Amino acid sequence: MGLRKILTDENPALHKVCKPVTSFDSKLHKLLDDMGQTLDDAEGVGLAAPQVGILRRVVVVDTGEEILELVNPVLVRTDGQQEGPEGCLSVPGRYGLVKRPNYAVVRAQDRFGQWFEVEGEELIARCFCHELDHLDGKLYTEVMERFLTDEELDRM
Ligand code: NI
Repeated sequence: MGLRKILTDENPALHKVCKPVTSFDSKLHKLLDDMGQTLDDAEGVGLAAPQVGILRRVVVVDTGEEILELVNPVLVRTDGQQEGPEGCLSVPGRYGLVKRPNYAVVRAQDRFGQWFEVEGEELIARCFCHELDHLDGKLYTEVMERFLTDEELDRM
């Protein structure tokens, strides 16, 4: 199995700016495979490479239909706004109230270096923004309005 350990927010790796990927080689493919498995195992929506201790610009997102692999992703367009609960596999057991765009378009490379664009709405747009922030060493706890209480979460 290629499960990787998910680091939590006190780890310095989660607070650093990640470097771009320049080699689309078997090492990258293994990282993407492992991150996909780790995300699936943790039942999360998205996972960024620094969460498994790799300071490279790599993200995986589970859209519900497939695991999207985003290498060197950049946000190219956003629209609208949503406000809602947001969590992170690196901040276990807690949720915060976070404002995000309701629609987002990301431009990224695939595991072979080919550029493509992908769009997302609602949860997926939120996830794109959250995961891309990870690549700049930023956690949702730095952009949230506040943590949510258990009672508030039950009502959402
Ligand atoms: Ni996260």
